[in-house]
Amino acid sequence: MSSTIPFITIQVYLGLRTYEIAIGDSLLIEAERYLASWDEKLNSVEKTTGRALIVTDQNVQSPHAETVYKSLIDAGWQAEVITLEPGESSKNINVVTGMYDDLVKLQADRQTLVVAVGGGVIGDSAGFLAATYARGIPFIQIPTTLLAMVDSSVGGKVGVNLPQAKNLVGSFYQPLGVLIDTDTLNTLPAREYISGLAEVIKYGVILDDSFFKYLEENIEGLNSREPTVMKQVIARSCRLKADVVEQDEFERTGLRAVLNYGHTFAHAFEALAGYGELLHGEAVSIGMVYASRLAEKLGRITGEETERQVNLLKAVGLPVELPVGCEFSADNILQKMLLDKKTVGGQLRFVLPTEIGNVEMVKGVSEKTVREVL
Ligand SMILES: NC(=O)c1ccc[n+]([C@@H]2O[C@H](COP(=O)([O-])OP(=O)(O)OC[C@H]3O[C@@H](n4cnc5c(N)ncnc54)[C@H](O)[C@@H]3O)[C@@H](O)[C@H]2O)c1
Ligand SMILES: [Zn+2]
Repeated sequence: MSSTIPFITIQVYLGLRTYEIAIGDSLLIEAERYLASWDEKLNSVEKTTGRALIVTDQNVQSPHAETVYKSLIDAGWQAEVITLEPGESSKNINVVTGMYDDLVKLQADRQTLVVAVGGGVIGDSAGFLAATYARGIPFIQIPTTLLAMVDSSVGGKVGVNLPQAKNLVGSFYQPLGVLIDTDTLNTLPAREYISGLAEVIKYGVILDDSFFKYLEENIEGLNSREPTVMKQVIARSCRLKADVVEQDEFERTGLRAVLNYGHTFAHAFEALAGYGELLHGEAVSIGMVYASRLAEKLGRITGEETERQVNLLKAVGLPVELPVGCEFSADNILQKMLLDKKTVGGQLRFVLPTEIGNVEMVKGVSEKTVREVL
């Protein structure tokens, strides 16, 4: 079904690293057109044929990565596809090492594109590959989960996990361009899709009350993944994250911290839950409710504004309290929070809302107050 808004582009302004996010439906069949035009901006040296290494996972390969591959091959490109196993375990230095070998075999050079077609796992690991091979070769993101579209593909963070901690090795490395085809969401499992909506709602709470209102008014479109609504929602989310990233590209000023609303709680829940019990977005959803209740306790926000968040989260199918089997003790949650890398000098810090559309960083929240919320 084609829709009334055919196409939206977002510019992420980062000086020489400025790039475009193209958002629309049925874009993958003409992926080559976008890749070639972004590539042209970068390489003034004339080249005979385009070359690309497409990185994907087994759940995304068919049909999405295949569509991209075909579009490149039909246009005369030389392309290879690497298909990784789905899941977090592919964000691993050994997997990246295997891909270095593939790039060598492909005789990759500075004109070879690494094209990530997949969720955040594929984007982060293929991005790290591109950032480090030959000191950096061009990188394109084609995100296929809602989370990757609105979050991980904006901001340039790429990397892999170490056994000791997630995302411990990585870099800031901006892509040449990001291609978002909302049609790819049609194959995404419901739980993954809904989980991505938590980050979308987060943007409304932290930065944009009118966007939050738009979401409240378009629940049906959100739940049915209606293309026009999806395009608007993804574009607005990318714009809001890009605004923050543009002001704090390398996470130095602390501005980027607003994006962590709900995440101090969420990271603790994720660390305590067994594997696969809580998806990231589900943990963030519950975390935002806790954070907003904490803000209420501190007299920073009204109960009605917490309720608006709870209602919207529930309406799209997100959890607002810890599920059965995940009732962690306050002691355990606090202990994990104190271990969080965002905790400074044993002081609990939280991003807390003052109203829908605005948050503040609050330092020195007492353990006692946090316990009351837990
Ligand atoms: N770089 C950043 O700024 C940033 C930000 C947030 C999260 N992340 C990272 O992103 C990762 C999580 O990303 P994710 O939630 O996209 O997970 P994911 O990449 O594991 O994808 C989730 C699941 O959906 C499947 N899938 C993806 N697209 C599909 C589609 N269109 N149809 C059917 N199945 C599909 C995948 O195979 C996987 O099983 C984490 O590693 C996290 O650390 C990075
Ligand atoms: Zn998140």
